[in-house]
Amino acid sequence: IPVSREMIAELTSPPNVPTPIGRRKAKKLIVNMEILEEEGELTDGVKYVYWTFGGSVPGSFIRTRVGDEVEFTLSNHPDNKLPHNIDLHAVTGPGGGAESSFVAPGHEKTFSFKTLNPGLYVYHCATAPVGMHIANGMYGLILVEPAGGLPKVDKEYYIMQGDFYTKGKNGERGLQPFDMQKAVDEHADYVVFNGSVGALTGDNAITAKVGETIRLFVGNGGPNLVSSFHVIGEIFDKVHVEGGDLINENVQTTLVPAGGAAIVEFRVDVPGTFILVDHSIFRAFNKGALGMLKVEGEEAKKIYSGEIREGIYLPEGPGIQEMPTTDEIVEAEIPAKSLDEQLEFGKQIYMQNCFACHQAEGQGIPNAFPPLANSDYLNADVNRAIDVVVNGLSGEITVNGEKYNSVMTKQMISSDDVANVLTYVYNNWGNSKKVVTKQMVENVKN
Ligand code: HEM
Ligand code: CU
Repeated sequence: IPVSREMIAELTSPPNVPTPIGRRKAKKLIVNMEILEEEGELTDGVKYVYWTFGGSVPGSFIRTRVGDEVEFTLSNHPDNKLPHNIDLHAVTGPGGGAESSFVAPGHEKTFSFKTLNPGLYVYHCATAPVGMHIANGMYGLILVEPAGGLPKVDKEYYIMQGDFYTKGKNGERGLQPFDMQKAVDEHADYVVFNGSVGALTGDNAITAKVGETIRLFVGNGGPNLVSSFHVIGEIFDKVHVEGGDLINENVQTTLVPAGGAAIVEFRVDVPGTFILVDHSIFRAFNKGALGMLKVEGEEAKKIYSGEIREGIYLPEGPGIQEMPTTDEIVEAEIPAKSLDEQLEFGKQIYMQNCFACHQAEGQGIPNAFPPLANSDYLNADVNRAIDVVVNGLSGEITVNGEKYNSVMTKQMISSDDVANVLTYVYNNWGNSKKVVTKQMVENVKN
């Protein structure tokens, strides 16, 4: 195919992907990628210095077609501390480009390659220690479309899993350095989609309308863990296995190797919130590998009759939690020193322990989980509320005129954390602004 003209590649940060290639002819495609080392948030209160291709984790999405001649320029920002390079799995050539692209801070390197094989490919930094560069976020996806492009769909998104290793344990606040030993041992503290816990939940959820077709470009940067990618409440109509030409149909869970990818496609038939997980399920509910697809539109009672719409598929509650294995509760290491700190710490506990059931704005879920927003039950009796969190609650209760008859398990969190989370709840969403102290919690306990 003759290369007719040149054009500059559109690059996007996740979860967005560039415009489809469609029927365009093969071209000389200019890709300009900048490496940035910058601090970001791994989860609430936990800072991490990411090394990125294009300022995001995963790095910018590159979209090409087979036969393109890609002229790739990699620039290493002068504020960066280390040399880097890029190995694109779409490249046929030594090191996938790594040898030609090794670049020091304040320099740039250009090399070019022809896209010979269509498919979805991972790219990553391959500078020693390679595992560390990848663990810090240096990976992304490059799509090589076949001649004529991919079949048209309504929505396309970019999702990439990665595992993170921090000096402190999961949830430990502050700036967390990379932990080489944990990485070597493959003991991940975080497993996430798109670089951080919550990158695809709540307001960051991906969206669609009932009846639309969805295509997810799913990658796995690793560095260590293989992903069992699954969407709770959906069946993949089609999977491009390992990102290649082989198409499997009617798939529940697809493996995405470290350093590999898959393209999954499905039509959304009913409204609701569909949860994206690595079905190695502790990673989803305890380490962060959880995202959301929010689908709006008409109920389709013939396909799904449920009365509860949003949240019904949330299998066991908390987004990330310490599961109660013993009755021992670890006391908080840093007690809050002010109301502001109580609210900040309390929000974090809320997002880890309560949010999955009582929801982001405390609105609850009709017929299942009572609201904490404007809750007459909550505001009537602070000691009873403490008791609910400390000892759990079951049996019929009435909240704001609605009956609930269910079970809330006791929350295995320290007295400080109970005080902080209830103070957070009381000081939000139209509640009575009470301040709960550790002493009040201890009084209820004894
Ligand atoms: C009830 C707070 C976590 C499920 C309640 C109530 C409060 C409360 C104050 C009383 C009713 C109301 O005011 O609306 C909290 C806090 C949590 C937490 C602060 C986190 C620390 C959870 C989780 C679940 C859950 C994770 C689900 C797995 C329920 C249910 C009830 C309830 C089902 C009603 C129980 C019944 O019908 O007797 N919660 N909750 N809660 N909560 Fe939670
Ligand atoms: Cu690097």
